[in-house]
Parts: sequence; structure tokens; C-alpha cells
Amino acid sequence: MEIKQLQLIHYRNYEKSSFEFSEGTNIIFGKNGQGKTNLLESVFVLCRGYSHRSGRLADLIRFGDDSMGISSSFKTGSTSHRLRLTVIQGRKKWELDGKTESGFAKIGRLAGCILFEPDDLEIVKSGPERRRAFINEELSGLNPVYRATYRTFEKVRSQRNALLKDIRFKKIPADQARALLAPWDQQLTNAAENVFRERAEYLLKLNREAKKLHERLSGTGEKLSLEYQSNVFSGFDELPRIRQVYLDKLEENLTSDIERGYTAAGPHADELVVKIDGVPARQFASQGQQRTAAISLKLAHIALYREKNGEAPVVLLDDILSELDEGRQRNLLSVLSGVQSFITCTDPAFADVIAEGTARVCEEGSGQDIRKFRINSGELIPKPAAAYNEPAAVHSAMKYSKESN
Ligand SMILES: Nc1ncnc2c1ncn2[C@@H]1O[C@H](COP(=O)(O)OP(=O)(O)O)[C@@H](O)[C@H]1O
Ligand SMILES: [Mg+2]
Repeated sequence: MEIKQLQLIHYRNYEKSSFEFSEGTNIIFGKNGQGKTNLLESVFVLCRGYSHRSGRLADLIRFGDDSMGISSSFKTGSTSHRLRLTVIQGRKKWELDGKTESGFAKIGRLAGCILFEPDDLEIVKSGPERRRAFINEELSGLNPVYRATYRTFEKVRSQRNALLKDIRFKKIPADQARALLAPWDQQLTNAAENVFRERAEYLLKLNREAKKLHERLSGTGEKLSLEYQSNVFSGFDELPRIRQVYLDKLEENLTSDIERGYTAAGPHADELVVKIDGVPARQFASQGQQRTAAISLKLAHIALYREKNGEAPVVLLDDILSELDEGRQRNLLSVLSGVQSFITCTDPAFADVIAEGTARVCEEGSGQDIRKFRINSGELIPKPAAAYNEPAAVHSAMKYSKESN
């Protein structure tokens, strides 16, 4: 997909701003705290249906205002669409091509993005929790249904945990406890089965694409591989009978789960081991190797998205390039050839470096169009021509919705 225009009204630190983006590389620069990440966040929200910065869409409303709007025109395949999100007096509303959508499902099938932030460079180095979050986020990006699937599992798990604590508190004997837990165990294993199935299919593909990319980016022929370690089963070949396997595990853990008031086994506690040349990278790889592996894992999603949707997602790189050495910068930019990207940085001179670097590494004849945007206090500098600067569509929608509320 490609975002062509974007209009922000009373969004974060933007009062009213319009952007005409390149279908290629968009370099967004400006001092800290000016609104670069906010701008990327607005694109993320349109593509994913939620914000990576905040769980509450109300946080997107400019301080002191009571409503906001993000409106865009984007292209999927050869079809153009208009998309608008408004939050007015606490109510959010999605509109696709002028029609109100009851949820994000239809939009999620048309729009998609990958966001890469400095924190993501730590995916390999950090603890297991970070990699589980990575799987959940990226799998949700590829398959928006997964987000709901995982939520269901988490909801049942927290209810089961509450019951475990209750059983401990009331000192309920094991047999009775077992009967009380049985319906929750059924629900938990049903929900987990869906999570495991989605993850298995996803990791098989991620393994393949991340390996290809890592070989290319490292330039040394290093082999990246992924290993999913579950505390429920020993391998994905157990998937056909996973519910029973998980039920047996819950039975095995009954006493200790009650003691702790916590469900120990499940997809919430699994680990993704990233290996380089067969050795766990977290413990044994250099920081440089770990970072290259992290970039490979992240950017592999361009290929995965392409495989699923027949075109590339929008790629958002927030303050990433300045974190990398020149070689890695070049390699990363080369992956973005033919992809619409939004790249932020603070230094105007570095914005030029990115532009030149992009022009150099993009395949000849790819015609990668490069545009630069300077952001200052939630405004585009210099201000665009009047025609672009009148986000009338969002504005009138906000007025209209206010009246109809
Ligand atoms: N809801 C909001 N209303 C007004 N300003 C906001 C809102 N949310 C964040 N901001 C402001 O946005 C600024 C941060 O913007 P950000 O995009 O993170 O900057 P950067 O250019 O460094 O990426 C901060 O000054 C913050 O106060
Ligand atoms: Mg920022």
C-alpha cells in the first residue's frame, strides 16, 4: 500500500496539517519533540487500527481539544481509497471511502505497515518477553485477526489466574479445585490452540525470510535460524493434539499453579530462540551481529506481507538510521527499494545523507522518488500551498459528527 495524502486535525501536537507524500522515500526531519514520531504514529494508527504509543485513542486528541481527525488517501494495488478516523467526544469512528465501518477488519485487509524503532534493535539481546511481544505485534500486523485471538487467550488466562488465587485463599482441596478449573481449562486450551497454530505457520515463514535477509545484510554467509521453545509441547508436530497435550500439562502443574496463583504453562511463557550458525545469538553473538539479526527479523516482514497481500506494506523507520553504522545504513536502505517508507531523523545534514544514500542504493531504474519534510512544533516547514493546507474533509466531518451526536 501507499499513502498519498494525510491530513491531521487537532491530532497530538498538530493543529491542522496536510501532507502530500512520495510513493517512495519520505524523510521527516526536525528537532526533538517537534512531532516526527507523532506523524509516524498517525500512519501506524491508520494501518493497524491502534496506536503503538498509547492504548487509548483519546490520547491522540490535541491537549485542550475534545476531538481529532486523521484522514488520508491511500492506494492498494491500483485502487485508491479514502480513509478517515475521527475521535469525537470520546467516540471513535472509522470511515472507508465515505462509508462508516463498524470495526477495523475491512480496513485491516487493505492497509498494513511495519514500524521500526530503536528499541527494536534489542529484540535479540533482550529477555524472552521482548521477543514474545515482537511475535504478537508483528503477527497482528500481518494478520489482524491474531490480535483478537491472543486477547481471548489472555482474558481466559487472567480469569483462570483469579480462580487459582481464590482456590489457594479458600484452601479448596485438589479434587474440588480440578472440577472448578475444568471449564476454564477447556476455554484456555481452545484459545491457546488458535494462538499456537497461527504462530507455527508464521514462524515457519519468518524463519525462511529472516534467514535470507540476514545472509544478505551480514554479507558473511552467517545462517540465522529461529527455534520456538514451548513449555507446553516439545515441537510444532504436536499441534494436531495440542489441546490434550496442554490439558495434560495443566493437570501436571495443578498443585504448583494453585500455590503460585498463576498459570505457568502456555503461549504467554514461550521463548523464541534466535540462533546464528546454530548458536543462541542472545548469549554468544556480538552486539553488531545481534543488531543485524534484529533488522533481519523486522524487515523480513516486508516479504511476508508481500507474500500475503501481493504488495509491500508501508515501512516506518523512527530514528533508526542514526543508530546504525554506515554499512548497515546502506544495507537497510537497499531493502527499501520500491517500498514506501517514512524515515525520521533530527539532523538536516543527516536527512541529506539518507536522501543521497537512498538514491545510490536503490536499484537503477526503480525511480525511487525521495521527498523531505521538515517538522517544527507540529507544523510542516515551509507551509505547503493553500490547496494542500486546507484539510476541509476532516474538518467538515468533525463538525458534522458533532451536530449529529
Ligand atoms: N495529545 C497531545 N496534544 C498535544 N501535544 C502532544 C500530545 N501528545 C504528545 N504531544 C506533544 O508532542 C511532542 C512529542 O512529539 P514527538 O512526535 O514524540 O517528537 P519527535 O519529533 O521527537 O519524534 C511533545 O512535545 C508532546 O508534548
Ligand atoms: Mg521521535
